[in-house]
Amino acid sequence: MLKIAVLGAGRIGQVHAANVAHHNDAQLAMVADPFIDNARALTALYGGTAVKDPLDAINHPEIDAVVIGTPTDTHVELMLAAARAGKAVLCEKPVDLDIRKALEAKQALGEHTTRVMLGFNRRFDAGHSEMHQRIRNGDIGDLHQVIITSRDPGLAPMNYLKHSGGIFRDMVIHDFDLARWILGEEPVEVFATGSRLFEPALEALGDYDTVMVQLRTASGKQCQINCSRQAVYGYDQRLEVFGSNGMMLSDNQRDTGVRRYGAQETEVRGPLLNFFMQRYAEAYRREMDVFISAVSNDDTVPVTIHDGCQALKLADAAQLSADTHTVVNVD
Ligand SMILES: NC(=O)c1ccc[n+]([C@@H]2O[C@H](COP(=O)([O-])OP(=O)(O)OC[C@H]3O[C@@H](n4cnc5c(N)ncnc54)[C@H](O)[C@@H]3O)[C@@H](O)[C@H]2O)c1
Repeated sequence: MLKIAVLGAGRIGQVHAANVAHHNDAQLAMVADPFIDNARALTALYGGTAVKDPLDAINHPEIDAVVIGTPTDTHVELMLAAARAGKAVLCEKPVDLDIRKALEAKQALGEHTTRVMLGFNRRFDAGHSEMHQRIRNGDIGDLHQVIITSRDPGLAPMNYLKHSGGIFRDMVIHDFDLARWILGEEPVEVFATGSRLFEPALEALGDYDTVMVQLRTASGKQCQINCSRQAVYGYDQRLEVFGSNGMMLSDNQRDTGVRRYGAQETEVRGPLLNFFMQRYAEAYRREMDVFISAVSNDDTVPVTIHDGCQALKLADAAQLSADTHTVVNVD
C-alpha cells in the first residue's frame, strides 16, 4: 500500500485525492493546504490527516509519494523538497512559467527525474492513447499531419488569467505535450497567431483569447493546434491524425451516444461533457494508476520533467511567434 499525500486541495487536488482514495494499491494518508478547511473537506470524505504546511506532508516518514496540485509558482520548490526527502512525485502541469527555472529544476532533480511524473493527463485519455498505439502499429501508414482542437467552454476569471502565464503556457501547454507525444518527434519550427476576438481586456496582459499554432518537425511532419478560451457549445476536445494510409479521429465525448432524428433536424445529440473534470475523469484515473504502478514497481515514470520543459519551450516559442508575427525555431 503506497501512502500518498496530496498537496493543494483545490480543483485538481480534489480529483487526485478521490483517485488515490479509490485506488486498491494506495492510501490517501495526508492532504496539505494552507487553507486548512480545503484540506479537511477532502480528509472528511476520503480519510487521512489534514495539514497546513506541505513540507509537513513531504517530510513525514510514512509518506511514500506526493501529488502536487498547488498553484504553478510553487511546483518547483515542492518538487525539489520531495526529491530531497526521497519521495516520488506526480506534479501538475506546467513545471513553472519560467523555462530557466524549469530547466534548473530538471538539472537539480538528477537521478530522481525517473521518479517525478508530470501531469499531462491527455496522454491517458482512452481515445488519444489508443490512437498513439495504432499510429505506432502502422494503422494509418506514415504519419503526416496532426490536428488538435482544444476549446474551453468559457473564459476563466480575469484574476486567474492575470497569473496564468498566458494562453500558451497555461492552456495550450497540454496540446504541445500531446503534439510531441503523437508526432513522436520534436517540433523544430513554430508559427502562431493570436487574437482577442471577444475579450479586449486581455491586451493589458499581453494575452490572447483565440490562437492557432503550426508546428513542423525536422522530418517535415506537421501539426496544427486550434485553441479558444470560449466555445458556447462546451469543452471541445478533438484529435485527428492523418497519414499515408488513412485518418483517425479521437472525438468529443457525451453522456450517451443517443442521436435524435426529427422532421426539422437529424443527428441531434446531447451536450458535450462540459469541462476537464468530466471530460478527462477517466484519464486522471488512468494517470494515477500508471503513477502508482510505476512507483510501486520502481519503474521510470512515463512522463518526465523533460517533457514538461519541452512543452514549455514550445509555449514560449508560440508566444514569441504570435507577438512578433515570425516563425520561431526551437532546439
Ligand atoms: N492537468 C489538468 O488538467 C489541470 C487542471 C487544472 C489545474 N491544473 C494545474 O493544477 C494546479 C492547481 O490548479 P487548480 O485549478 O486546482 O487551483 P486551485 O486554486 O483550485 O487550487 C489550488 C489549491 O492549492 C492551495 N495552495 C496554495 N498554496 C499552497 C501550498 N504552498 N501548499 C499547499 N497548497 C497550497 C490553495 O489553497 C488551493 O486550495 C495549477 O498548476 C494548474 O495549472 C492542471
